Amino acid sequence: MSEKQVWQKPTLTAHRMGTLNKFGSVSHGHYQDEFEGVKIAPLLEKYGSPLFILSEKRLRNNVRKLLRAFETRYSDVVYGWSYKTNYLGAVCTTLHQEGAWAEVVSAFEYEKARELGVPAEKILFNGPHKERPILERVVAEGGRIHLDNLDELYLLEEVAKEAGKIVDVTIRLNFDTGYTEPWSRFGFNIESGQAMDAARILGESNHLQLTGLHSHLGTFVLDPRAYGSQVRIMCAFMEQIEAATACLIESIDIGGGFASMNSLQGSYLPPEQVVPSIDQYAEAICFALNDATRQRELSGKPRPRLILESGRFTVDDTEILVTSAVANKRMPDGRRSVVLDAGVNILFTGFWYNHPVTPIRPLDGVAEDTILYGPLCMNIDIVRSSVMLPPMNVGDALVFSHVGAYNNTQWMQFIEYRPNVIMIHEDGNVSVIREAEDLQVMTAQERIPEHLQSIDVKG
Ligand SMILES: Cc1ncc(COP(=O)(O)O)c(C=O)c1O
Repeated sequence: MSEKQVWQKPTLTAHRMGTLNKFGSVSHGHYQDEFEGVKIAPLLEKYGSPLFILSEKRLRNNVRKLLRAFETRYSDVVYGWSYKTNYLGAVCTTLHQEGAWAEVVSAFEYEKARELGVPAEKILFNGPHKERPILERVVAEGGRIHLDNLDELYLLEEVAKEAGKIVDVTIRLNFDTGYTEPWSRFGFNIESGQAMDAARILGESNHLQLTGLHSHLGTFVLDPRAYGSQVRIMCAFMEQIEAATACLIESIDIGGGFASMNSLQGSYLPPEQVVPSIDQYAEAICFALNDATRQRELSGKPRPRLILESGRFTVDDTEILVTSAVANKRMPDGRRSVVLDAGVNILFTGFWYNHPVTPIRPLDGVAEDTILYGPLCMNIDIVRSSVMLPPMNVGDALVFSHVGAYNNTQWMQFIEYRPNVIMIHEDGNVSVIREAEDLQVMTAQERIPEHLQSIDVKG
């Protein structure tokens, strides 16, 4: 009698494309040796690796494209550059030269916009954290405050009263469009009646005057219908509060959220198939706005100004990160991995997006499923958990594209210095727009108490 076999737990093994499998080998001929007409290798040599490279031309083209899409569909449009998306001075000033206002969410961002020369009345101040000193400054200078909550409303009322002013304010709203998960932590909720309460309080105020409505649906919103719904809800609310109070709404700010051509992790289809064009977003928004405000003109009221605060769409594809291989490693499960000199410390969005990755020279050999690790001594430092790449030598460089949004702001000084950021100007010249950090920069803020000034390392 044969011996009874021991039961074994079944397992599923992912079939990896690459060397010797039933799909054959995958060749990988793509490479990118230049960005906006400038060769990448000499830039790396001059400015070091890793290196962020930003294109002024792309930035200008993107904002012009955005404005054209909206201004051809609606008569009064203002674009506020979302500072948190990328507040490098050269990025902000390029966009301000193109006519963008500033959209800020902290005292720091407000101060930065003012220092760059943006007039206060062209700064939209969003966010849940505005304390008395910054509110006093904004009120004195005439900046535009978007109220997030009742405590802020009461504080601003006091500040305006002390300044002896009547201050125009916008309230931030949140509500369900039926298309996206509502971001209900910001602003006043419409469905619960909270937003109407805030409007009534403002209606009775001697120092604050409600003139604007704001909402921001979220980021990387892939369905333009969400915006159509957003605009209709905001316009209906505008009519309601104008009927219930003496306010007159002059602007409707729809925030940001338009997707860039990046790949959100977990998204099955490539961005070319799922990301709407800017005209599709503009059409959904402007059609709804024109439609919902037609009656207004007949009754002698002006149509509200449309304010946009798009961040990601404008800047994401204007910047690349070039990073070099520092080591190759075979993992115990057989997969190849490469250690790069850039990790999640400077490519924070690597947590959520599969950025396009391309070598800067044609690589020989068979492409294999590869894990790209960063340089940090931290298990989480993975900038790409799976990408088909041929073998790389130490020193070979890769381009990560679509890194312009939220990396030069959310990056962290952790373990490594942050590298140079350079800009390719419209005329092809190149300049550093943020210098790489060094030890002096990193320790400049530290103070070592007197009794800790000398050390004696034993052994
Ligand atoms: C109030 C506000 N406006 C604009 C933006 C820019 O969003 P995005 O980069 O998705 O266009 C954000 C981002 O979170 C935001 O919170």
